[in-house]
Amino acid sequence: MVIIGIDIGGTSIKGAAVRNNGFILGQFTSEVIKGEPAEATLERLANNVEHFLATTDLDKRELIGIGIGCPGAINSTSGYVDFSPNLNWNNVPLKKFMEDRFHLPVKITNDANAAGLGEAHFGSGKQYSDVVVLTLGTGVGGAIILNHKLFEGREGKGAEMGHMIIELDGRPCTCGRKGCLEAYASATALISDTKEAMMQNKDSKLWEVVEGDIAKVNGKTAFDAAKMGDKAANDVINNYVKYLSEGILNYCNIFRPDAVILSGGISKAGDFLFDKVKQYCKSWDYGYPNTPVPEILPAVLGYESGMVGAACLFF
Ligand code: BGC
Repeated sequence: MVIIGIDIGGTSIKGAAVRNNGFILGQFTSEVIKGEPAEATLERLANNVEHFLATTDLDKRELIGIGIGCPGAINSTSGYVDFSPNLNWNNVPLKKFMEDRFHLPVKITNDANAAGLGEAHFGSGKQYSDVVVLTLGTGVGGAIILNHKLFEGREGKGAEMGHMIIELDGRPCTCGRKGCLEAYASATALISDTKEAMMQNKDSKLWEVVEGDIAKVNGKTAFDAAKMGDKAANDVINNYVKYLSEGILNYCNIFRPDAVILSGGISKAGDFLFDKVKQYCKSWDYGYPNTPVPEILPAVLGYESGMVGAACLFF
């Protein structure tokens, strides 16, 4: 049994043929061009899936469907992307478009729900019953798994963990509100904080890391400079850790999970990030030391969790 698992992101689309044991048989990517209409992105995606199927050594009789994770309010019942601010999509009939094109069953869900499913089935979460997964990328997404079961909510739209207000009247968020966790803990926020710190600190090692070119700043820049002992970079990281950890503590107070799994680009920062987050959470965890902080773990499937999880919609 093989499923095409697709993870639509704010900057690119990743896809894979996934066997029902989680094994990836082959992968492809497809571009997301900022500002283009949804139809153009989907047309390119469908062409890339067709090309992948035509050029991959795969027994087509094993292929049973296409699972897709997409950011935003995804109505898994109607098959529509109702609202996706980070893609600028509204009322997009994603399921129908892919079904018409491929004549295969198509299931869609929120991208973070897909990542959560992937980690719960095959990744860091598989030995735990209650897990909160946070995806730290263009936006901040999340999945809640309770008793080994993904919380889906009304219309299957899941939980919007990145849109919890962490700072009243704080930074504007793409969703229209102010002070959402996403505006402080996404890769987008970290990149913009890094650039701001660079403009204010012309002698910072941050400039060295990007060879003097501010356009090269990415989610790793501040971590690299902070590890070199740079003060401005460490301030950026410590501020990032503070907001992310406060968000995690809020989720711990609500769900008391066994584990919190961090996925997405920023989670690749390794122990430098995780040690700080764990230390912060330990200091402020409600009931500590009687109530231990849950495990805070990186997603082991890494950037594959979204694709594998989208395929899991068929398992
Ligand atoms: C969206 C979520 C999505 C997350 C990660 C957020 O801005 O609201 O639906 O899961 O970004 O892509």
